[in-house]
Amino acid sequence: MQICRSTQAMRECIRNWRQNGAQLALVPTMGALHEGHLALVTRARAWLDAHGGGRVVTSIFVNPTQFGPNEDLAKYPRDEENDLTLLRSVGCDAVFLPQVHDIYRPHAQTHVEVAGLGGMLMGELRPGHFRGVATVVTKLFNITQPDVAAFGEKDYQQLTLIRQMVADLDIPVDILPVPTVREADGLAMSSRNRRLTPEDRAAATVLARALDQAQAQVAAGATLQAVHDGLRDMLATEPRADTQSIDIRDADDLSQPTAFSRPVVILLAVRFGDVLLIDQRVAHP
Ligand code: PAF
Repeated sequence: MQICRSTQAMRECIRNWRQNGAQLALVPTMGALHEGHLALVTRARAWLDAHGGGRVVTSIFVNPTQFGPNEDLAKYPRDEENDLTLLRSVGCDAVFLPQVHDIYRPHAQTHVEVAGLGGMLMGELRPGHFRGVATVVTKLFNITQPDVAAFGEKDYQQLTLIRQMVADLDIPVDILPVPTVREADGLAMSSRNRRLTPEDRAAATVLARALDQAQAQVAAGATLQAVHDGLRDMLATEPRADTQSIDIRDADDLSQPTAFSRPVVILLAVRFGDVLLIDQRVAHP
């Protein structure tokens, strides 16, 4: 596995591969890898295998511009050695580990903003977050010029926004959505889980229970209001859960449905102590 610590090294590595006709898959991450990320690498590899073979690059970059002033940038978990071991174990071909100054020039004046999708839902809770995400993902696409890039469904709004951005800007990359990987008790895998206290870790299973219940209610023909109330009540049974938002949106464009006529996505954001967890589930009426 090649380790590229600068943009120049990454470009050189890719140039060599491209000269030999390889296709390229990118898996953008912020490190602190877990099985959810490894599923992205495996999915990217499967796509390449089905399209004549190629190389998988994983980027590890804790992107400062997607953290707000009061957010946990300094506390974001970093574990490079373990990340590299995990990536080797799934046959990743190269890791891009840039420094902040590689990605952000000191007097940069350009950013990418997905106006509608970036300002709603988590974009309201975390102003500027999606501008940081869209900008860094565009830069990673420009540096690596992948044929395909894998993103987890767990960050559903992020996935929807990246798809919109790629379509709007004619970026020639296929976006591969990858289903959420869960712990045995249903908790969605997240780098943030390791910051939960044991009590909060146990309490956080309420998210998956609430989503299971809501999914069943949608399938059984309940009203939007009933599903929303059911989620609120289920989350309220857990005193350690501080619910930040409950949203039920159209699964394609995240618009607000008036009734269940098409697939919806249920989006939850809940704090446990100072850790904000998100989870989602697509439900079919
Ligand atoms: O999902 C993430 O880990 C990040 O938002 C991403 C896509 C790597 C951009 O920094």
